[in-house]
Amino acid sequence: MGRFLHLVRAALRSRDQFTVALAGGSTPRQLYSLLTEKRLDWERLHFFWGDERCVPPDHANSNFRMADEVLLSHVPIPAENIHRIHGELPAEEAALDYEDELRHFFRYQTPRFDLILLGLGSDGHTASLFPGTPAVREKVRWVVGVDHRSPPPPLVNRVTLTPPALNAAANIIFLVSGTEKAERLAEVLQGPYQPELLPAQIVKPVDGHVCWLVDQAAADKLTLPKK
Ligand code: 6PG
Repeated sequence: MGRFLHLVRAALRSRDQFTVALAGGSTPRQLYSLLTEKRLDWERLHFFWGDERCVPPDHANSNFRMADEVLLSHVPIPAENIHRIHGELPAEEAALDYEDELRHFFRYQTPRFDLILLGLGSDGHTASLFPGTPAVREKVRWVVGVDHRSPPPPLVNRVTLTPPALNAAANIIFLVSGTEKAERLAEVLQGPYQPELLPAQIVKPVDGHVCWLVDQAAADKLTLPKK
């Protein structure tokens, strides 16, 4: 929470807007809920998503719906500042639509989000970059559709930011919680570099910072320096 607030307030001291791409899944819920109690210049924040499931925005599996229910519907943010991925469209069409939105918003430059929030799946995926899939190898497009038919659930197609878009960010915060993530987190952070198997490893901003906010349970397998 503190890091999020620091980044927003520091950026808004010198700039007129702050762009954040939200993570999906369940881990970020608590952060989003806590943010509703904070005094921020909400009208100067622009919300995007790192990925989305190909379901309607009111579907239980929608990352937009989760963020809207827990955060966006509770704060005074203008509707035009919410740039959701249109998951109700077929994956590739939604990807082209979202990429077009990014192109216009970031004035035809590679989108450089002030902050991207990411989670870590127990298989080492992040956003919807799943092990062994073409999206992990994407080098040009900023957004792609993902044909997702094998675990982890939900088994619905996805739309995801690609490594070029993620790695153009100024700041990335990974939120990781729970025992079930511990082994994979240790592999991602302290094991050999093998992004095909552990896509979270591909997140290395070209000119930006990565911060891992990890709870005790998820950190259990990390080898920490001796005090
Ligand atoms: C999604 C997310 C995905 C998520 C991880 C961790 O759409 O599911 O973007 O990348 O961050 O799967 O999910 P949990 O926080 O639910 O463990």
